[in-house]
Amino acid sequence: MNENLIEIRHLKKYFPVKEGHLHAIDDVSLHIPKGETLGVVGESGCGKSTLGRTILRLIEPTSGQVLYDGVDLTTLSGAELSKVRKDMQIIFQDPYASLNPRMTVRDLIAEPLLINKVFKSKALVYQEVDELMATVGLSKRLASAYPHELDGGRRQRIGIARAISMKPKFIVCDEPVSALDVSIQAQILNLLMDLQKDLGLTYMFITHDLSVVRHISTHIAVMYLGQCVELCPSKELFKNPLHPYTKALLTAIPVPSSEMRHKKIEVVKGEVFSPINPAPGCRFSARCTEHKESCKGYCSDLVEVEPGHFVACPNI
Ligand SMILES: Nc1ncnc2c1ncn2[C@@H]1O[C@H](COP(=O)(O)OP(=O)(O)O)[C@@H](O)[C@H]1O
Ligand SMILES: [Mg+2]
Repeated sequence: MNENLIEIRHLKKYFPVKEGHLHAIDDVSLHIPKGETLGVVGESGCGKSTLGRTILRLIEPTSGQVLYDGVDLTTLSGAELSKVRKDMQIIFQDPYASLNPRMTVRDLIAEPLLINKVFKSKALVYQEVDELMATVGLSKRLASAYPHELDGGRRQRIGIARAISMKPKFIVCDEPVSALDVSIQAQILNLLMDLQKDLGLTYMFITHDLSVVRHISTHIAVMYLGQCVELCPSKELFKNPLHPYTKALLTAIPVPSSEMRHKKIEVVKGEVFSPINPAPGCRFSARCTEHKESCKGYCSDLVEVEPGHFVACPNI
């Protein structure tokens, strides 16, 4: 039995663009033990969604391996891949965009069950929908409501019900609470944590907001321009951040209001390197307050500087 449900080895995703290659994911290695949550944090554009989608093979990797329960997904195709895919689901930031506005809550939750022919009769499907609605905290009276009649929190509950309907083992949560008010964020986070416990789920929880992943994550990976720059247990990251970028992210929280959260807050000053054909060397150096002349051109891999605490910084 594998202790790690997910193991990523030297994963790269380069998008071909006019000027060359955009290095969205550049040699990332991570693992997620069964039943745990890996928080993935970093500014917009650092490659978090690409990482999540490449793991699910919704995007083909350029190179590297994605092991799911010990099986390399990058080598699977056809029926084998479809079978594993049912075990892996994704929850998006904006469920509204992914929900058909002309379908009722009941039909939206029934959809994946019907498509995958999970039950023999419609009556059994709707019975399951009733149970899923109860599981995610949607009141029965909302079964015939349409998505536009619901608030963001309830819409996200539909997204979660759809994701768990196939009884997955692994869920990529891609900014699932970023569009929600703070009070509702807490409710959805609590729901996700309860479901994890009850259903034995393993999560990759993606967010640009460190405060959101603090309690839900077992470990946190901090990403900067396609690379993982710090990786350690969640508690350790808040107590003892080591990478200058992580420290800068931490000074940016708590964010005072939900309106502010939608504004692009510049947490770190200085020029952001282009992810297109990046030069070798530390990608954060131009913005780094601890930058030394010797960092130039030097690119550090993740190094275990304390037990279980990995940092990629030439100065540490
Ligand atoms: N299909 C694509 N083609 C070209 N570039 C892309 C594509 N998808 C994402 N990117 C680029 O890859 C980088 C990472 O994007 P993304 O994974 O969406 O970041 P995040 O989720 O952290 O905001 C960005 O520079 C983005 O512009
Ligand atoms: Mg994203």
